[in-house]
Amino acid sequence: MKPYVYITRKLPQETLAELQEIAEVEMWMEEEKPVPRSILLEKANKAAGLLTMLSDRIDEELLRQAPYLKAVANLAVGFDNINVEASSKYGVTVCNTPDVLTDTTADLAFGLLMAAGRRITEAAEYIKDGKWNSWSPLLLAGTDIHHKTLGIVGMGRIGEAVARRASGFDMKVLYHNRRRKIETEERLGLSYRIFEDLLKESDYIVCLTPLTPETKDLFNEKAFKMMKDTALFINVSRGGVVVEEALDRALSEGWINGAGLDVFREEPINPDHPLLRHPNLTALPHIGSASTETRLKMARLAVSNIAHVLQGIKPPAAVNT
Ligand code: DGY
Repeated sequence: MKPYVYITRKLPQETLAELQEIAEVEMWMEEEKPVPRSILLEKANKAAGLLTMLSDRIDEELLRQAPYLKAVANLAVGFDNINVEASSKYGVTVCNTPDVLTDTTADLAFGLLMAAGRRITEAAEYIKDGKWNSWSPLLLAGTDIHHKTLGIVGMGRIGEAVARRASGFDMKVLYHNRRRKIETEERLGLSYRIFEDLLKESDYIVCLTPLTPETKDLFNEKAFKMMKDTALFINVSRGGVVVEEALDRALSEGWINGAGLDVFREEPINPDHPLLRHPNLTALPHIGSASTETRLKMARLAVSNIAHVLQGIKPPAAVNT
């Protein structure tokens, strides 16, 4: 009998071939709605593999009820929705989708930076709302991007890709990372700063750090108060690194100039959330890696990760083996 694999969101059939050869594959067919927890638990109970989204919680409660489970493959590079330690305890290999989304996510991060700096979404709404009466010298004037200082918090693969884009805009690039990376600094012409100095010196701050117990609430009131009042804050990692009440105050009281967010503490964010009322906040619905090409690559990689584990072969992207 073939092992059973459950996929928690509808993926294109063409990405499933590698798995369908060796497993019985079932998929949650609703594109817009996540699989309800009760169904996920029921499926996990008989599954050897789960292909999960970042909105699915893979915790001890689920792992305890999943006696046959060998692999959990997240369709994301981030895996803060999965209890990796508990997975290891239960002998479950956790996989993610690094590399294939690096450039796509960096494109979006840089696009969000540009949108925030040059007020692009605000300007687009302005014209569609019929407010454009005449050209005027300072109408919707934003902030330059070229020759400014960019501070990247989290210098992993996506951080490097953002730094490369910034060099094309003649930006000075500072970075902060848990561990200093001398080779990367030399190769890309970056300067390392301690977190506080990066906040004080940067015109644009881009957060790319994964969500961990150490980075949770990293961008709090103290951090926003350290930034220049002209600074723009961009987050494309996870909402949990930002204290949203603090950012709300930072925008209301002019501690910083604006923000661009692709991620929120609770997703989808409630449309009545106070943050969304700020004209100087550009908000996107977690689309960092959302190009068709990249999402197909991510799906194929996640499928391949599970297929490898089920065949007893080292998967291309495991985080706990
Ligand atoms: C990831 O891969 O972690 C992204 O947030 C998904 O777009």
